[in-house]
Amino acid sequence: MARVAVVTGGTRGIGEAISVALKAAGYTVAANYAGNDERAKDFTARIGIKAFKWDVADYDACIAGLKQVESELGAVDVIVNNAGITRDGTMKKMSRTAWDEVMDTNLGGCYNMCKAAWDGMNERKFGRVVNIGSINGQAGQYGQVNYAAAKSGIHGFTKALAQEGARAGITVNAIAPGYIDTDMVAAVPADVLAKIVARIPVGRLGQASEIARAVCFLVADEGGFITGSTLSINGGQHMY
Ligand code: CAA
Repeated sequence: MARVAVVTGGTRGIGEAISVALKAAGYTVAANYAGNDERAKDFTARIGIKAFKWDVADYDACIAGLKQVESELGAVDVIVNNAGITRDGTMKKMSRTAWDEVMDTNLGGCYNMCKAAWDGMNERKFGRVVNIGSINGQAGQYGQVNYAAAKSGIHGFTKALAQEGARAGITVNAIAPGYIDTDMVAAVPADVLAKIVARIPVGRLGQASEIARAVCFLVADEGGFITGSTLSINGGQHMY
């Protein structure tokens, strides 16, 4: 039977590309989303992947959401923690709320989803977790102390959980995308973005599909010896 994969933030941007690629690779995909119902409906109609609504920052909602997916689609073997938000601003201007929202969604969401799936993966002696970090978690970024801290946290979380899952056949890896052509990056002021792109050796933004193919590689059944790693996909912008 096809393995079931949950992709958080799976109806838009990088998450949408991951959902599409996993479906094409034969997985049964549940695409989680938190916000826009209309967009999610459109996604399901276009792509043929069921969308499930819950907020990854909400622990109880993640536990309930995973149970719902399992009752409808079957045991979840693959979690892709992709959901993420930005609340950019320099320290002078950054509110406590902007800090908390980014930490709770981007990093807290990884804990919540892994916690929800962990016992089942341990019982079945198989699991694949891929956490989407960021170049800005590796290198830092002006105006992003919240986002950089959360994404950097994801990289530590990945290495710690990889050690805990190793003997149970569960791999935990991270991908650190650079600047990818999505709505999130489009929201960066044009003059700032132009300067960033000028520093990318490949000379362009990345495509979401270029992240998705790496997710497929990491979650494959044959990937059992790849764990605790971070795959940087950033056009050479930061060689870590
Ligand atoms: N280095 C040094 N100075 C910088 C700078 C930098 N990289 N970027 C901006 N500044 C300076 C500006 O020149 C300006 O200086 P002056 O006041 O002397 O003119 C000052 O910092 C900015 O002041 P603002 O009052 O405009 O600051 P702000 O609190 O409104 O923040 C900002 C502006 C949010 C940082 C804005 O510059 C910005 O959006 N930067 C881009 C941040 C970014 O790259 N975000 C990535 C989003 S996509 C993503 O995160 C996906 C991923 O994983 C890659």
